[in-house]
Amino acid sequence: MKQASVRVRLDRPRGRIHPYVYGQFIEHMGRCIYGGVFEPGSPLADERGFRRDVLEAMRGLRIPIMRYPGGCFSDEYHWRDGVGPREKRPHYPEQYWTRALRGLNRPHLAPLIGPPETNAFGTDEYLALCAELNIAPYLNVNHGSDTPEEAAEWVAYCNRRPDSPRKVAVVGVGNEVYGPWETGHRSGDEYGRHFLQYAEAIRRVDADVKLLAVGAQKVFAGFTEGMLKAAGPTMDYVSVHSFYPALAGMRKLRDDEADYWAVAAAPYALIRNVDEVFEVIDRVLGPDSPVRVSFDEWTLWCDWDECVATNYDLRAGLFFAGTFHRIHERAPRLEIAAIAQLVNMLGLIQTNDSGLFLTAGYLVNRLYVEETRPLALESTVESETFDSPIWPEAPDNVRAFLGEDLKGIPYLDASATVTEDGRELAVFLINRHLAEPLDVILAIEGALRSPQDRRLRLLSGDGPFARNDFEHPQRLRIEERPVAAEGNRLRVELPPHSVGALVLV
Ligand code: AHR
Ligand code: AHR
Repeated sequence: MKQASVRVRLDRPRGRIHPYVYGQFIEHMGRCIYGGVFEPGSPLADERGFRRDVLEAMRGLRIPIMRYPGGCFSDEYHWRDGVGPREKRPHYPEQYWTRALRGLNRPHLAPLIGPPETNAFGTDEYLALCAELNIAPYLNVNHGSDTPEEAAEWVAYCNRRPDSPRKVAVVGVGNEVYGPWETGHRSGDEYGRHFLQYAEAIRRVDADVKLLAVGAQKVFAGFTEGMLKAAGPTMDYVSVHSFYPALAGMRKLRDDEADYWAVAAAPYALIRNVDEVFEVIDRVLGPDSPVRVSFDEWTLWCDWDECVATNYDLRAGLFFAGTFHRIHERAPRLEIAAIAQLVNMLGLIQTNDSGLFLTAGYLVNRLYVEETRPLALESTVESETFDSPIWPEAPDNVRAFLGEDLKGIPYLDASATVTEDGRELAVFLINRHLAEPLDVILAIEGALRSPQDRRLRLLSGDGPFARNDFEHPQRLRIEERPVAAEGNRLRVELPPHSVGALVLV
């Protein structure tokens, strides 16, 4: 059996992991909202129209913060369309995504990814959902086709109305403004000047709300730099988005070895966008700037046809886990993160008319949110490594977007977290090996109060492409295994392509 080891340093905290790193995102796109969280008239819905089964699944993710109403959708959304008596709200046969998919020459997907907008779900419904599940609302306001005043009125509607169900905690101004696909697409410099106007108008109605400005990875040459030079340190967060393999619609993910290795290694590629934004913040605002990063859209997104009902398999679960490790490593400067998205559309949860199932992405997210302790620790891993092309058979014209190949990726990946009083330790472990189990020795250095209970909570499966579906919703699930210990040394066997949380409490 292959050997690997982890050395955990209890005396070396790296930083505090903000609960917001386990955020979620819902957009008026595909069946994320309609037919996902919200389906009035369905026997599964409550009297407000919320799907009871989806609410329960959401509860399991202990969602700390949730971004709404988009994405690209938000840069064309007028919030007043979605408030007031439902029968008076305007119906639109098309929305941003209907046109976008036609523009991408995929007319068959236009009504699926951009369904008609009835506005039955709007601000009140969103805030009620957040209130019910104790979620901090993160509103993404329209910079594409609206004004700073309307955005400020929206924030006032949420935060100054006495009967508002929940106050908005974070307000993002626009989405992916750097991209030519975005309504309101601008240079960083121009957007930075707009941001100042939005910030002034919004802070006039609520001085406490946290503000977020759009940032971009390096390929969108100079956007973040231009934005920061124009707006200065006036924002609380700079956002960054990152999808693997970098551009949606590359091709279908294949159930073969090459795609397995690439996806298993992909968290190291995905996080490059985040590091590029840190680098610009350091350069323009200085390394001690209090401005934090919000990594508020990330996922595995290969294909347009499958994004409407993505079923994240076990391999994708490894990708989610590896990305959480990269996020932990960047604590506390990376303060918010959100998977794109929660239900159906690129969704962790998949629904149909009669029920739902939880994908491997959901199971990993739930394991991490349940077991992460507040302080990230330094740890050293010794493991054999592998290399993978950044994306197998990538066409030459997209190489600049994809970046460098992935070299020296360890089979074993670990992230250790601990409570402040040093009583509870959780070490997350990934075995990326396709076929071989790993015999892992874990050495804990420093004084851990002797644990009463030790267990390994494990997600593994018969094969790397194992997945749940409506017929087999329990094929993948988290199981518990005992752990052998000798003093401060523990030993666990990790099956191939598995994710585990070793918990000492
Ligand atoms: O998450 C789906 C879409 O992808 C969002 O609308 C957009 O912001 C991103 O490009
Ligand atoms: O056309 C939509 C855009 O294509 C998405 O917003 C972007 O992330 C994708 O590559």
